[in-house]
Amino acid sequence: MRILLHRADGVTEPWVRDFASVLPQAEVVLWQEGVPCAPCDYAVLWSPPAALLDHLAKVKAIFLTGAGVDAILKFGDALPPVPIIRLGDAGMAIQMAEYVAHAVLRYYRRFDEYERQARRGVWSPLPQFDKAQFTVGVMGMGMLGRRVLDSLAHFGFPLRGWSRSQKDIDGVTCFSGDDGLDEFLRGTRVLVCMLPLTHDTTNLLARANLSKLPEGAYVVNVARGAHVAEPDLLTLIRAGHIAGATLDVFRNEPLPGPHPFWDEPRITITPHISALTLRSESVAQIAGKIGALERGEPVADMVDRARGY
Ligand code: NAP
Ligand code: GLV
Repeated sequence: MRILLHRADGVTEPWVRDFASVLPQAEVVLWQEGVPCAPCDYAVLWSPPAALLDHLAKVKAIFLTGAGVDAILKFGDALPPVPIIRLGDAGMAIQMAEYVAHAVLRYYRRFDEYERQARRGVWSPLPQFDKAQFTVGVMGMGMLGRRVLDSLAHFGFPLRGWSRSQKDIDGVTCFSGDDGLDEFLRGTRVLVCMLPLTHDTTNLLARANLSKLPEGAYVVNVARGAHVAEPDLLTLIRAGHIAGATLDVFRNEPLPGPHPFWDEPRITITPHISALTLRSESVAQIAGKIGALERGEPVADMVDRARGY
């Protein structure tokens, strides 16, 4: 069995080593532009260059080393008609829970304000926010969003979620579809975006929808930069309608040097690290799924191309 591996960061050796330990019968072939390679049975990649697509003609399945699928589905019909299988959690859900819980608690407990006070030598307790009014709304209640909601439930925040299909989750007020969006947004104090990037969700968080959040709302985006209209978010923060944002993802990554977000103290920026791909967990999961496919068994986390995620 041959596995075609592409790593955008060029760090392939530890992946080859991990695959050798869990699938010793497999030969891992490294893709190099312009270098011909023998046909492979499976491909393992995330955001391939277009030139790699020619080498996918014979694969039985494409495994993604990430949860999001926008970086591959953008190739549309140029992709072979084989299953595309993304990572299902593989250690990402707990990282998302850590990241989002930190962001929510930092805003709720006013740590940024205390930090500024401390720098000025000011000792002055601020009024506590009323937790009953501090609803956290999670957009996208999939593999990662559900884990985030679970972790926030321990802190007693009122919780709500929005998804494409209606859910019924204990302790979470669930909204769905276009009909549920306005009500979801109007009652959300901290908005957490955990949606896949699809035709329907691109630019969803532009001025019209962001303005529906109550005054003093806070935005956390750990999904994709293109969900948010960046100038609109900045305008609403500067106008005081939105109190601030914690952003892990951006339209252009790395976030360009002159971008106005860098100079806005109410925006916290992290470099797309909210849930990193954990190599050994990912290799173990992919190897397990290859085994299942070889035995003709069903495999989880198949991407639905028509749905876009
Ligand atoms: P998932 O399991 O596929 O869940 C997606 C959720 O979004 C589902 O609840 C789905 O609704 C909902 N959804 C999709 N389209 C919708 C629409 N048009 N309207 C309303 N809800 C919609 O995905 P996941 O594993 O939780 O991952 C979510 C995203 O996180 C990924 O796509 C990726 O972009 C991002 N991510 C970011 C990082 C990072 O480091 N920043 C790391 C990993 C993942 P249904 O339940 O009804 O299908
Ligand atoms: C990272 O952004 C992922 O989708 O896994």
